[in-house]
Amino acid sequence: MRKVINLEDLRDARTALPGSIGFVPTMGFLHEGHLSLVKRACRELDSVVVSIFVNPTQFAPTDDLDAYPRDLERDIALLQEAGADLLWMPNNEVMYPPDYQTWVEVGEITKPLEGEKRPGHFRGVTTIVAKLFNAVQPQVAYFGQKDAQQVAVIRQMVRDLNMPIEIVASPIVRERDGLAMSSRNTYLNPDERQAALVLSTSIQKAKFAYDNGERDAGVLRAKMEEIINAEPLARLEYVSCADYVSLAELDIIERKTLISMAVYIGKTRLIDNLILE
Ligand code: PAJ
Repeated sequence: MRKVINLEDLRDARTALPGSIGFVPTMGFLHEGHLSLVKRACRELDSVVVSIFVNPTQFAPTDDLDAYPRDLERDIALLQEAGADLLWMPNNEVMYPPDYQTWVEVGEITKPLEGEKRPGHFRGVTTIVAKLFNAVQPQVAYFGQKDAQQVAVIRQMVRDLNMPIEIVASPIVRERDGLAMSSRNTYLNPDERQAALVLSTSIQKAKFAYDNGERDAGVLRAKMEEIINAEPLARLEYVSCADYVSLAELDIIERKTLISMAVYIGKTRLIDNLILE
């Protein structure tokens, strides 16, 4: 696996890669969720590029940017093992040189859910992903369904800006007990780790109700809220039962639906979701 930092080296290495190019953008501190994307890309395309860049513009000033976990050496070993061909690790000077002033902003689909709770977050995501796409020029890019709204926003951007890139969304990888894998899980102490199960448990409860015929979105939201509110270490930020395409909140479920939530466990903000077909 080749490793590059600056744009010139990335372009040279990219040109030297044979065949079709798959791309997996990440912020590092890799776990099986990230690696599932890399392994899938390796199966489906000739060459695979991975980027690691903790993108400052998608964090709020009050966010955990400096505390964001990093372990580059471990990441490199894991990517090598997973079969990646090229690792790009740009730094802030490469991605946002002094006097940087161009932003990519997607409209309506960025407004609810994560966009509402994290103002400016998606502007940072779409700007960096557009820059990464422009540099890597992949045929296919892989994203996790874990960040369901992020996938929807990226798809919208690619469509609106006529980027010739196929976006593939891959299923959420979970720990044995159901907790969705996340780099942020490392912040949890043992009690919080246990309490964090309210996310996946409440989603499973909602799915069970749905599978048994419940179509009232308000009832599903209330079931999830009840479970989360019963956990003293959890603080609910939102639960949502929204149209999969528009992400607008639903009264009655009639089409493909995204149930999703953000919950603080202690100081750690976790998200989870499930698609009801
Ligand atoms: P990051 O949080 O590092 O995630 C990189 C990719 O891994 C994303 O597409 C995310 O959805 C996916 N992922 C994370 N946890 C997962 C899990 N448990 N199962 C499946 N996939 C999972 O998302 C970002 O970085 C950034 O916003 C980025 C797109 C790199 C732009 O900076």
